[in-house]
Amino acid sequence: MTSAADLTQKTLPDNVSTLIDIILDENPMHKSFITKALDHVTDEEIDILDRYLEFCQSKGQNLPYMADSYLTIVGDTFREQLYFMKHKEYRHKSYADVAGHVYDDKDYMNKYMYGLAITSFLWPNHLDMGRLFVETAPRDRGGKYLDIGPGHGYYLMKAMELGSFDHFLGIDISPASIEQTGAILEHFKPEFKDKYELRLMDFLEAKELEAGTYDAIIMGEVLEHVEQPDVFLKRIAELAKDDAYIYVTTCINAPAVDHIFLWRSTDELEKMIEGTGLKIKTPLRLPYEGKTLEESQAAELSINVAYVLEKV
Ligand SMILES: C[S@@+](CC[C@H](N)C(=O)[O-])C[C@H]1O[C@@H](n2cnc3c(N)ncnc32)[C@H](O)[C@@H]1O
Repeated sequence: MTSAADLTQKTLPDNVSTLIDIILDENPMHKSFITKALDHVTDEEIDILDRYLEFCQSKGQNLPYMADSYLTIVGDTFREQLYFMKHKEYRHKSYADVAGHVYDDKDYMNKYMYGLAITSFLWPNHLDMGRLFVETAPRDRGGKYLDIGPGHGYYLMKAMELGSFDHFLGIDISPASIEQTGAILEHFKPEFKDKYELRLMDFLEAKELEAGTYDAIIMGEVLEHVEQPDVFLKRIAELAKDDAYIYVTTCINAPAVDHIFLWRSTDELEKMIEGTGLKIKTPLRLPYEGKTLEESQAAELSINVAYVLEKV
């Protein structure tokens, strides 16, 4: 049986090495992927993952559950990839198709969000997108910060650590996501108790938000989950101050249980972005592992993208 220690020279903290041991025990085929992942992640990032796992355990989620959450994403994504290769389309096309078995299914959504948080460290493309956020998020800017679809809450927590915003708002359509975000903030950032608000609602229904008042707007891995991503982007442009920091991530040809909007190329996506009152300041286009962007597009393989955007 392979263990985490056989895959890297790095000294792994206990939670991370036990998590990986369980993952490999359950899914030995994941060995080469994990080996590359451990190559890519820094010691500091591994320590952050370790602290995240410690937090999850303090909330009653033991490491076998966390490993199962991660493997649920791996397994579900693989199944959706097979569907996509055969049909050249995502399985689902509308919010109604996925709401019941994803956003409103608390057990599934909890696993999904815990698993997704782990992918932020173990999936090289996800790690690179997170690094862009850490590198570019403003450090000395006050005002209002908005996170659309915080999910597991890790990036909202990170924003509190990095920046000096006065108020943070997280809006998410899933009760499980709102709960997880609340728990991570309470655990890691108790001193921010009076500086944030979490709202359970569809972002597009948040009509009360004031136009032109947000200093930062973040929307990680949400656009591919919605029926009208252009409407989301236009609303971001409307809410942002003229010089706001705007960070958005999404994906191309990347099937998942709840991805409903499909772009087939970065051009197609970027044309959409540029038509919504936003322009691309810093693009990060991450092809499928071992392929170029062009090869990934031609073979309809997953591409991850992150952008720092600005208002036109
Ligand atoms: C894949 S998770 C992304 C979590 C995190 N932002 C990240 O980058 O890893 C997508 C999140 O968006 C939320 N979401 C989906 N549609 C939404 C909508 N219309 N309004 C608000 N939140 C939404 C989901 O409930 C989920 O928590």
